[in-house]
Amino acid sequence: MKKQTQAGLPRHVAIIMDGNGRWAKKRLLPRSAGHRAGMNRMISLSEAVFDRGVEVCTVFALSTENLSRPEEELKGLFSLFREYFAKNVEKLVKKHILLKVIGNLSLLPEDIGELVRAGEEETKGGDKGTLVLAIGYGGRQDILAAVNEAVRRGREVSEEEFSALLYTKDLPEPDLLIRTGKELRISNFLLWQSAYTEFYFTDTLFPDFTDEELDKALKAYAARERRYGKI
Ligand code: IPE
Ligand code: IPE
Ligand code: MG
Repeated sequence: MKKQTQAGLPRHVAIIMDGNGRWAKKRLLPRSAGHRAGMNRMISLSEAVFDRGVEVCTVFALSTENLSRPEEELKGLFSLFREYFAKNVEKLVKKHILLKVIGNLSLLPEDIGELVRAGEEETKGGDKGTLVLAIGYGGRQDILAAVNEAVRRGREVSEEEFSALLYTKDLPEPDLLIRTGKELRISNFLLWQSAYTEFYFTDTLFPDFTDEELDKALKAYAARERRYGKI
């Protein structure tokens, strides 16, 4: 009898970009240098993801918990985000990539919220792929906000209605989640959305995660059998 259908190419790849600080430490560089290297890698890696035919690429760039990091590190990260929007939105427009940001922007400096809105607006015609940046994002906070909205509506909601109350409404659920940087955990990323996501963990620190390693992860995914509880 034929085996279960294998997974093939994921439609949505989510990436937890972890290990930037350790990458810098190994080189006796400040953590900020690791974040810069990580941002540069993120830009070319997301291009590689779309080149392979993936429709949606979500990158976890800052969690709600990361907002408790020292002020100096946060300042550096916010500057990097500003730089990212200033330099990359035009590139995304040219490549017909739609930009979407998920997370609680009210936790970030106001001007970042404005850059996000402008970036989303400028790229809104993009139909070749969707790049989702998770900034100030927390899975529990995402779920809780949806629960509270459902409560305000004053009635029970279905799974579909609940999904539509999350930041990720309009997006397919992630098929493949890649986490770099050795840790074997989800760190409050897409908790509801990753119920049936395939996980791929690697020790490689994010700035060292090459396109070849992406291909290795995609190959591993392609061979997975997704059963969704069936046999
Ligand atoms: C991931 O790298 C980027 C962010 C969480 C902002 P880290 O900063 O967590 O790097 P490590 O884990 O300390 O090496
Ligand atoms: C996860 O990395 C969050 C992001 C990559 C944005 P962390 O470095 O914050 O995760 P923990 O603290 O090791 O779980
Ligand atoms: Mg980390």
